[in-house]
Amino acid sequence: MRVLLTGAAGFIGSHIHRALAAAGHEVIAVDLMLPAAHGVDATPPPGVRRLDVRDPEALDAVLRGIDAVCHQAAVVGAGVSAQDAPAYAAHNDLGTAVLLAAMDRAHCRHLVLASSMVVYGEGRYRDTPIDFIPGPRSRADLDSGLFDHRAPTGEPLDWTPIDESAALRPRSLYAASKVAQEHYALAWATATASTVTALRYHNVYGDDMPRDTPYSGVAAIFRSALEAGESPRVFEDGRQARDFVHVRDIAAANVAALTHPLAPFTPLNIASGHPVTIGEVATILATAAHGKPPVVTGDYRSGDVRHIVASPEKAHRTLGFTATITPQQGLAEFAHAPLRAAAGVGAPTWR
Ligand code: UD1
Repeated sequence: MRVLLTGAAGFIGSHIHRALAAAGHEVIAVDLMLPAAHGVDATPPPGVRRLDVRDPEALDAVLRGIDAVCHQAAVVGAGVSAQDAPAYAAHNDLGTAVLLAAMDRAHCRHLVLASSMVVYGEGRYRDTPIDFIPGPRSRADLDSGLFDHRAPTGEPLDWTPIDESAALRPRSLYAASKVAQEHYALAWATATASTVTALRYHNVYGDDMPRDTPYSGVAAIFRSALEAGESPRVFEDGRQARDFVHVRDIAAANVAALTHPLAPFTPLNIASGHPVTIGEVATILATAAHGKPPVVTGDYRSGDVRHIVASPEKAHRTLGFTATITPQQGLAEFAHAPLRAAAGVGAPTWR
């Protein structure tokens, strides 16, 4: 099939590009080459052309004869300051809206959208008699080292996997932009009788991940610390749970979603199915890198969620997708994997 891939020069997009080409698909690969992600004056890599998804004429030119769009272009990270809001809104939300309108003009009826587990906010907690979805943790609790969510009785609550039917509760600028992208895509699918599969990625890591920046995920931050001969610094008590999914599995999920349209709007968690704690992530990386052991600092970042663990069951049932790389194998490999040579600079801009 002929696929338009946006964000094709990025960490995830470049893996999807290779996976699609290896599966015999024709890929029209585009990327804006944002300085915040690729550095100042970066030129597109071979096989990728520069394109801003907010440019309707440019989209009309590349969408001719396209069977499906794989939309990975986005400003990522959690948002460092309120000044980042226009960049998330412009690139992620206006960009998606312009793309959807252009897809309609081109009669292109299938979209695979990069979404994120951040749409769920705090995740889901086991309580009796019903599962419980808490609000943000209080600063007073965090300051006194009480990191777990607690039941009204004061008992600490443990996580339970969240599924796609959960309400969306964005907590960051990035999360807000991902929820809006999903909502625009859902409305478009209904209005145009099209199909959208929104892949809610969990914590992605792997070869060619960007180095340590304020917008990087924790695996790259730990990896960069170890490379510099320092200990990974683990926040809270290190027992916060996540699901780390390898970028090659993310690419495989995208290929599956592109070739199996699910009507009309289907959100799917894309996770390894093997949750780990952040302390375990630091230990696996430090051990595999023969680096300094992790330090659990007790610090916290405001806006961080305690646990977020998703059920990968629906992706398996509907798409036949199961991740093949466990975090234990994948993170040990990642300890020695190459990181991106070019580093992004500064905060994302939007004009
Ligand atoms: C991350 C991404 C989010 C993405 C999601 C799913 C970032 C900033 N967040 O969310 O955009 O949608 O995965 O792929 O990219 N931590 C430490 N030490 C550090 C830094 C972080 O212990 O030096 C801890 C944090 O407190 C948190 C955990 O590691 O508990 C995970 O942090 P992070 O990688 O930023 O990601 P998520 O919030 O899970």
